[in-house]
Amino acid sequence: MKHQDGCVYLVGAGPGDPDLLTVKALKLIQSADVIVYDRLVSAEILDLAPAGATRISVGKQPQHHPVPQDEINELIVKIARNGRKVVRLKGGDPFIFGRGSEEAIELTDHGVRFEVVPGITAAQGCAAALRTPLTHRGLAGGVRYLTGHCRQDRELDFDWQGLADPDTTLVVYMGRANIPEISEKLIAHGLCGNTPVLAVNNGTTPQARQILSTLKGMPEQVDTAGFEGPVLFIIGKVANLSAKLGGLNAETSEIASAILA
Ligand SMILES: C[S@@+](CC[C@H](N)C(=O)[O-])C[C@H]1O[C@@H](n2cnc3c(N)ncnc32)[C@H](O)[C@@H]1O
Repeated sequence: MKHQDGCVYLVGAGPGDPDLLTVKALKLIQSADVIVYDRLVSAEILDLAPAGATRISVGKQPQHHPVPQDEINELIVKIARNGRKVVRLKGGDPFIFGRGSEEAIELTDHGVRFEVVPGITAAQGCAAALRTPLTHRGLAGGVRYLTGHCRQDRELDFDWQGLADPDTTLVVYMGRANIPEISEKLIAHGLCGNTPVLAVNNGTTPQARQILSTLKGMPEQVDTAGFEGPVLFIIGKVANLSAKLGGLNAETSEIASAILA
Protein backbone atom coordinates (compact mmCIF):
# COMPACT_ATOMS: atom_id res chain seq x y z
CA MET A 1 0.00 0.00 0.00
CA LYS A 2 1.24 3.50 -0.81
CA HIS A 3 1.04 6.02 2.03
CA GLN A 4 0.87 9.77 1.70
CA ASP A 5 4.13 10.19 3.60
CA GLY A 6 6.65 7.42 3.96
CA CYS A 7 8.01 6.68 7.37
CA VAL A 8 10.96 4.59 8.47
CA TYR A 9 10.66 2.57 11.65
CA LEU A 10 14.06 1.69 13.09
CA VAL A 11 13.00 -1.47 14.87
CA GLY A 12 14.92 -3.75 17.22
CA ALA A 13 14.22 -7.43 16.54
CA GLY A 14 15.82 -8.66 19.77
CA PRO A 15 18.56 -11.28 20.08
CA GLY A 16 16.94 -14.12 18.11
CA ASP A 17 13.99 -15.66 19.92
CA PRO A 18 10.88 -14.29 18.14
CA ASP A 19 8.99 -14.30 21.44
CA LEU A 20 11.33 -11.53 22.60
CA LEU A 21 9.98 -9.06 20.04
CA THR A 22 8.07 -6.17 21.57
CA VAL A 23 4.35 -5.94 20.78
CA LYS A 24 5.06 -2.71 18.90
CA ALA A 25 7.77 -4.35 16.78
CA LEU A 26 5.41 -7.23 15.96
CA LYS A 27 2.60 -4.89 14.88
CA LEU A 28 4.96 -2.90 12.67
CA ILE A 29 6.43 -6.01 11.04
CA GLN A 30 2.91 -7.32 10.37
CA SER A 31 1.92 -4.09 8.62
CA ALA A 32 5.14 -3.21 6.77
CA ASP A 33 5.31 -2.51 3.04
CA VAL A 34 9.07 -3.03 2.97
CA ILE A 35 11.39 -4.75 5.44
CA VAL A 36 15.07 -3.90 5.21
CA TYR A 37 16.86 -6.33 7.48
CA ASP A 38 20.27 -7.27 8.86
CA ARG A 39 22.02 -10.63 9.01
CA LEU A 40 21.15 -11.32 12.64
CA VAL A 41 17.39 -11.11 12.08
CA SER A 42 16.05 -14.67 12.09
CA ALA A 43 13.91 -16.29 9.41
CA GLU A 44 11.11 -16.86 11.97
CA ILE A 45 10.89 -13.12 12.55
CA LEU A 46 10.89 -12.31 8.83
CA ASP A 47 8.08 -14.84 8.36
CA LEU A 48 5.86 -12.59 10.49
CA ALA A 49 5.76 -9.98 7.70
CA PRO A 50 2.82 -9.99 5.26
CA ALA A 51 3.33 -12.21 2.22
CA GLY A 52 3.21 -9.15 -0.05
CA ALA A 53 5.85 -7.16 1.85
CA THR A 54 9.13 -6.59 0.04
CA ARG A 55 12.07 -8.05 1.96
CA ILE A 56 15.51 -6.57 1.35
CA SER A 57 18.58 -8.11 2.98
CA VAL A 58 21.45 -5.74 3.69
CA GLY A 59 23.15 -8.21 6.01
CA LYS A 60 26.64 -7.53 7.16
CA GLN A 61 29.16 -10.05 8.41
CA PRO A 62 32.40 -9.32 10.24
CA GLN A 63 35.04 -8.36 7.60
CA HIS A 64 32.37 -8.56 4.89
CA HIS A 65 29.83 -5.83 4.20
CA PRO A 66 27.68 -6.77 1.21
CA VAL A 67 25.77 -3.45 1.28
CA PRO A 68 27.89 -0.54 2.51
CA GLN A 69 26.31 1.62 5.21
CA ASP A 70 25.97 4.69 2.97
CA GLU A 71 24.04 2.62 0.43
CA ILE A 72 21.71 1.37 3.18
CA ASN A 73 21.16 4.98 4.22
CA GLU A 74 20.33 5.99 0.65
CA LEU A 75 18.06 2.99 0.19
CA ILE A 76 15.85 3.66 3.20
CA VAL A 77 15.54 7.35 2.32
CA LYS A 78 14.56 6.46 -1.25
CA ILE A 79 11.94 3.87 -0.28
CA ALA A 80 10.39 6.13 2.34
CA ARG A 81 10.18 8.95 -0.20
CA ASN A 82 8.16 6.62 -2.39
CA GLY A 83 5.51 6.75 0.32
CA ARG A 84 6.22 3.27 1.69
CA LYS A 85 6.08 2.15 5.28
CA VAL A 86 9.61 0.90 5.85
CA VAL A 87 10.59 -1.30 8.76
CA ARG A 88 14.35 -1.16 9.14
CA LEU A 89 14.83 -4.30 11.20
CA LYS A 90 17.98 -4.77 13.21
CA GLY A 91 19.18 -7.46 15.60
CA GLY A 92 18.89 -6.58 19.29
CA ASP A 93 18.36 -2.87 19.85
CA PRO A 94 18.87 -0.44 16.95
CA PHE A 95 20.77 2.03 19.11
CA ILE A 96 23.19 -0.43 20.76
CA PHE A 97 26.07 -1.11 18.35
CA GLY A 98 23.45 -1.25 15.61
CA ARG A 99 24.31 1.86 13.59
CA GLY A 100 20.67 2.87 13.97
CA SER A 101 21.83 6.28 15.08
CA GLU A 102 23.72 6.81 11.81
CA GLU A 103 20.57 5.95 9.88
CA ALA A 104 18.53 8.27 12.12
CA ILE A 105 20.94 11.13 11.34
CA GLU A 106 20.66 10.43 7.62
CA LEU A 107 16.85 10.38 7.80
CA THR A 108 16.85 13.63 9.76
CA ASP A 109 19.18 15.25 7.23
CA HIS A 110 16.81 14.25 4.42
CA GLY A 111 13.67 15.31 6.25
CA VAL A 112 12.26 11.77 6.34
CA ARG A 113 9.96 10.89 9.24
CA PHE A 114 11.20 8.09 11.45
CA GLU A 115 10.50 6.38 14.73
CA VAL A 116 12.80 4.29 16.91
CA VAL A 117 11.39 1.10 18.40
CA PRO A 118 13.70 -0.45 20.99
CA GLY A 119 14.57 -4.11 21.03
CA ILE A 120 16.01 -6.41 23.65
CA THR A 121 19.74 -6.07 23.23
CA ALA A 122 21.95 -9.18 23.16
CA ALA A 123 23.30 -8.40 26.64
CA GLN A 124 19.81 -8.44 28.14
CA GLY A 125 18.58 -11.42 26.15
CA CYS A 126 21.65 -13.60 26.72
CA ALA A 127 21.88 -12.68 30.40
CA ALA A 128 18.25 -13.64 31.00
CA ALA A 129 18.52 -16.86 28.98
CA LEU A 130 21.51 -17.93 31.10
CA ARG A 131 20.04 -16.63 34.37
CA THR A 132 22.91 -14.21 34.82
CA PRO A 133 21.98 -10.89 36.41
CA LEU A 134 24.22 -8.15 35.02
CA THR A 135 24.12 -6.33 38.34
CA HIS A 136 23.82 -7.93 41.75
CA ARG A 137 24.17 -6.39 45.19
CA GLY A 138 27.68 -7.10 46.48
CA LEU A 139 28.95 -8.45 43.16
CA ALA A 140 28.43 -5.75 40.54
CA GLY A 141 27.26 -2.20 41.14
CA GLY A 142 27.24 -1.33 37.44
CA VAL A 143 27.51 -2.66 33.93
CA ARG A 144 29.32 -1.44 30.81
CA TYR A 145 28.60 -2.44 27.22
CA LEU A 146 31.68 -2.43 24.99
CA THR A 147 32.51 -3.19 21.42
CA GLY A 148 35.34 -5.67 21.05
CA HIS A 149 35.97 -4.64 17.50
CA CYS A 150 37.12 -1.29 16.16
CA ARG A 151 36.66 0.27 12.76
CA GLN A 152 39.05 -1.05 10.09
CA ASP A 153 40.42 -3.52 12.63
CA ARG A 154 42.26 -0.77 14.48
CA GLU A 155 43.74 -1.57 17.89
CA LEU A 156 41.21 -1.40 20.72
CA ASP A 157 41.61 1.97 22.37
CA PHE A 158 39.95 1.80 25.76
CA ASP A 159 40.57 3.19 29.21
CA TRP A 160 41.78 -0.24 30.34
CA GLN A 161 42.51 0.99 33.85
CA GLY A 162 38.92 2.15 34.21
CA LEU A 163 37.56 -1.06 32.73
CA ALA A 164 39.55 -3.34 35.03
CA ASP A 165 37.08 -2.77 37.87
CA PRO A 166 36.14 -5.97 39.73
CA ASP A 167 32.79 -4.46 40.81
CA THR A 168 31.55 -3.68 37.30
CA THR A 169 30.21 -6.21 34.80
CA LEU A 170 31.64 -5.82 31.30
CA VAL A 171 29.56 -7.03 28.38
CA VAL A 172 31.60 -7.30 25.20
CA TYR A 173 29.86 -7.31 21.83
CA MET A 174 31.71 -8.38 18.66
CA GLY A 175 34.67 -9.48 20.80
CA ARG A 176 35.37 -12.93 19.47
CA ALA A 177 38.47 -12.11 17.41
CA ASN A 178 39.91 -9.80 20.07
CA ILE A 179 39.15 -11.74 23.26
CA PRO A 180 42.86 -12.66 23.68
CA GLU A 181 43.81 -8.95 23.63
CA ILE A 182 40.87 -7.94 25.83
CA SER A 183 41.73 -10.60 28.37
CA GLU A 184 45.44 -9.74 28.36
CA LYS A 185 44.87 -5.98 28.74
CA LEU A 186 42.33 -6.36 31.55
CA ILE A 187 44.68 -8.66 33.46
CA ALA A 188 47.63 -6.32 32.82
CA HIS A 189 45.57 -3.47 34.31
CA GLY A 190 44.76 -5.38 37.46
CA LEU A 191 41.64 -7.49 36.88
CA CYS A 192 42.17 -10.93 38.39
CA GLY A 193 42.84 -13.70 35.83
CA ASN A 194 40.33 -15.86 37.69
CA THR A 195 37.46 -13.43 37.09
CA PRO A 196 34.60 -15.52 35.69
CA VAL A 197 33.65 -14.99 32.05
CA LEU A 198 30.62 -16.31 30.24
CA ALA A 199 30.70 -16.63 26.45
CA VAL A 200 27.29 -16.94 24.82
CA ASN A 201 26.92 -18.06 21.22
CA ASN A 202 23.57 -17.65 19.41
CA GLY A 203 21.96 -16.78 22.73
CA THR A 204 18.14 -17.18 23.06
CA THR A 205 17.96 -19.45 19.99
CA PRO A 206 17.75 -23.25 19.72
CA GLN A 207 21.40 -23.21 18.57
CA ALA A 208 22.58 -21.51 21.77
CA ARG A 209 25.89 -22.64 23.21
CA GLN A 210 27.86 -21.28 26.10
CA ILE A 211 31.15 -21.52 27.97
CA LEU A 212 31.79 -20.47 31.54
CA SER A 213 35.49 -19.94 32.12
CA THR A 214 37.92 -17.37 33.50
CA LEU A 215 39.48 -14.25 32.06
CA LYS A 216 42.77 -16.04 31.52
CA GLY A 217 41.21 -19.28 30.27
CA MET A 218 38.52 -17.92 27.95
CA PRO A 219 40.63 -17.13 24.83
CA GLU A 220 41.75 -20.73 24.50
CA GLN A 221 38.32 -22.13 25.34
CA VAL A 222 36.64 -20.00 22.67
CA ASP A 223 39.28 -21.02 20.19
CA THR A 224 38.57 -24.71 20.68
CA ALA A 225 34.77 -24.31 20.88
CA GLY A 226 34.47 -23.54 17.13
CA PHE A 227 31.48 -21.26 17.66
CA GLU A 228 29.51 -20.23 14.61
CA GLY A 229 27.34 -17.11 14.73
CA PRO A 230 27.33 -14.19 17.16
CA VAL A 231 29.22 -14.40 20.44
CA LEU A 232 28.83 -12.17 23.50
CA PHE A 233 31.10 -12.11 26.56
CA ILE A 234 29.91 -11.32 30.07
CA ILE A 235 32.93 -10.59 32.26
CA GLY A 236 32.62 -10.27 36.02
CA LYS A 237 31.70 -11.98 39.25
CA VAL A 238 28.02 -12.19 38.23
CA ALA A 239 28.94 -14.74 35.55
CA ASN A 240 29.26 -17.39 38.26
CA LEU A 241 25.59 -16.92 39.15
CA SER A 242 24.65 -18.63 35.87
CA ALA A 243 25.88 -21.90 37.39
CA LYS A 244 24.25 -21.29 40.77
CA LEU A 245 20.89 -20.31 39.25
CA GLY A 246 20.80 -23.29 36.89
CA GLY A 247 21.33 -21.29 33.71
CA LEU A 248 23.93 -23.60 32.19
CA ASN A 249 23.39 -26.90 30.47
CA ALA A 250 24.84 -29.98 32.18
CA GLU A 251 27.92 -30.20 29.95
CA THR A 252 28.88 -26.54 30.41
CA SER A 253 28.24 -26.80 34.12
CA GLU A 254 30.56 -29.75 34.51
CA ILE A 255 33.39 -28.13 32.50
CA ALA A 256 32.89 -24.86 34.38
CA SER A 257 33.10 -26.44 37.81
CA ALA A 258 36.39 -28.09 36.86
CA ILE A 259 37.84 -24.78 35.56
CA LEU A 260 36.53 -22.53 38.31
CA ALA A 261 37.26 -24.93 41.19
C1 LIG B 1 26.67 -5.45 15.35
S1 LIG B 1 26.37 -6.00 16.99
C2 LIG B 1 24.65 -5.70 17.06
C3 LIG B 1 24.12 -5.65 18.46
C4 LIG B 1 22.62 -5.45 18.51
N1 LIG B 1 22.22 -4.17 18.01
C5 LIG B 1 22.09 -5.64 19.93
O1 LIG B 1 21.59 -4.68 20.53
O2 LIG B 1 22.19 -6.78 20.44
C6 LIG B 1 26.46 -7.75 16.82
C7 LIG B 1 26.99 -8.41 18.07
O3 LIG B 1 25.94 -8.55 19.03
C8 LIG B 1 26.13 -9.72 19.77
N2 LIG B 1 24.95 -10.60 19.58
C9 LIG B 1 23.85 -10.30 18.89
N3 LIG B 1 22.94 -11.30 18.99
C10 LIG B 1 23.52 -12.26 19.76
C11 LIG B 1 23.10 -13.54 20.21
N4 LIG B 1 21.91 -14.03 19.90
N5 LIG B 1 23.96 -14.27 20.98
C12 LIG B 1 25.17 -13.77 21.29
N6 LIG B 1 25.62 -12.56 20.90
C13 LIG B 1 24.79 -11.82 20.15
C14 LIG B 1 27.41 -10.37 19.27
O4 LIG B 1 28.47 -9.92 20.08
C15 LIG B 1 27.50 -9.82 17.87
O5 LIG B 1 28.84 -9.84 17.40
